[in-house]
Amino acid sequence: MPSSIGLAILGPGNVGSGVVAALRNGVARYGAQVGRPLEIRRALVRDVTRARDGLDASIVTSNFEDILADPDVQIVVELMGAEHPAREYIEAALASGRHVVTANKEVMAKAGSELLAIAAKHNVRLLYEASVGGGIPVISPLSRDLLANDITAVTAIINGTTNYMLTGMAQSGTDYDVALAEAQRLGYAEPDPTADVEGIDASYKLAILCGLAFHVAVAPDEVARQGITKLGAKDFRYAEALGYTIKLLATGRLVDGGVVASVQPTLIAKDEPLAKVDGVLNAVQIEGDLVGRVLFQGRGAGANPTSSSVLADVLDIARDIVGERRPPEAIEYRKLPVHPPAMHSSRYYMRVTVSDQPSVLARIAGILGEREISIASCIQFETDDSAGTAELVITTHHATGAALDAALAEIRALDVVVEVGNVLAMAG
Ligand SMILES: NC(=O)c1ccc[n+]([C@@H]2O[C@H](COP(=O)([O-])OP(=O)(O)OC[C@H]3O[C@@H](n4cnc5c(N)ncnc54)[C@H](OP(=O)(O)O)[C@@H]3O)[C@@H](O)[C@H]2O)c1
Repeated sequence: MPSSIGLAILGPGNVGSGVVAALRNGVARYGAQVGRPLEIRRALVRDVTRARDGLDASIVTSNFEDILADPDVQIVVELMGAEHPAREYIEAALASGRHVVTANKEVMAKAGSELLAIAAKHNVRLLYEASVGGGIPVISPLSRDLLANDITAVTAIINGTTNYMLTGMAQSGTDYDVALAEAQRLGYAEPDPTADVEGIDASYKLAILCGLAFHVAVAPDEVARQGITKLGAKDFRYAEALGYTIKLLATGRLVDGGVVASVQPTLIAKDEPLAKVDGVLNAVQIEGDLVGRVLFQGRGAGANPTSSSVLADVLDIARDIVGERRPPEAIEYRKLPVHPPAMHSSRYYMRVTVSDQPSVLARIAGILGEREISIASCIQFETDDSAGTAELVITTHHATGAALDAALAEIRALDVVVEVGNVLAMAG
């Protein structure tokens, strides 16, 4: 029996170097918790010429085969990011009988069920706590602590970049471009922010959460997605006047024998707990039949918070190795449909610029009424006397996406309608 638990770190980058530092600082504590020391035996990088803090050059390689060739590597920690070659490396590590810990949401969202099956086949574990919500424990609570529940809904703020931008827009009245430039200046947004601002990153994380919560495989491209790029300062002003704020909400629900999954900017009442999750913080709210509502909140990114989740998984597996415990059986997924956006039901906010004439509202209300969409409120916020136009903000009661789309097509075609501006979901 080896005298230590051997680890390989694939990618000692931002998160990986945090893991290396935490392992070094906590060496005695982790050794005592596991009953055997943890030892980094190998690290995989692209550029072997660069010195790496806390890693002797002799263990750094750019050849993945060196990892598999070391019989004392028992846990492979994948922190490279992107789908390829991370997915192939995870698969090869599992097939060679190594346990794997990953923070890779893209791989877990696109190929999680296949990789978990490979892990089960080879009697090893694949853990991925850090793939959603950085330092917030949410995968483990869904897999273990909340298992006795029938989970009916998951509602989350799981992208720190967009939450930082939307908080800025709500608090300072800035427009989208200003909020993005500020987030980029502070390093919260990438030079190419597409994955964040279009909701792609959040759709990966929601797909993972839906799998765990509902035991249904949801592919990231089955998540209905609307980005934040069209939001303007006036949407936040109007939302505020109505008693709401706007968040990029990732929502999964079990409805009518299927799953509804969406990532979209959503008006949320200011007294709701999720409305108060500001800046780069993330939060995941889960509703179960036994537990009711629980809310997990914390830092969704950063080397230290993410290392906390990565190391929790490493320690869990290391304790299993020392205790010679078998991996728990995987939970069977159910075959349920993922409903298309046309079947989603929501309340809506819509901003419509119209000719400032008396009969306009009646005509819009008539179209909505024909589609069984009832108006909850209608406020005329701004008039432009020189252009002879007014801006109406209409909120509705629940309606399906199909009814809304049909009504919007007719409203756009009205001669008195200048423009239909943002149409946003409202939570609740
Ligand atoms: N950053 C966060 O706050 C955060 C939070 C939660 C989850 N995550 C996830 O954690 C993972 C890592 O993110 P990160 O921000 O730490 O990334 P990063 O700073 O870009 O680090 C990536 C590391 O992987 C190595 N690497 C990349 N491609 C490689 C390849 N083909 N072969 C060998 N090595 C390769 C890089 O090597 P070189 O050093 O030689 O370039 C680098 O060391 C991602 O899946 C990310 O989604 C990150």
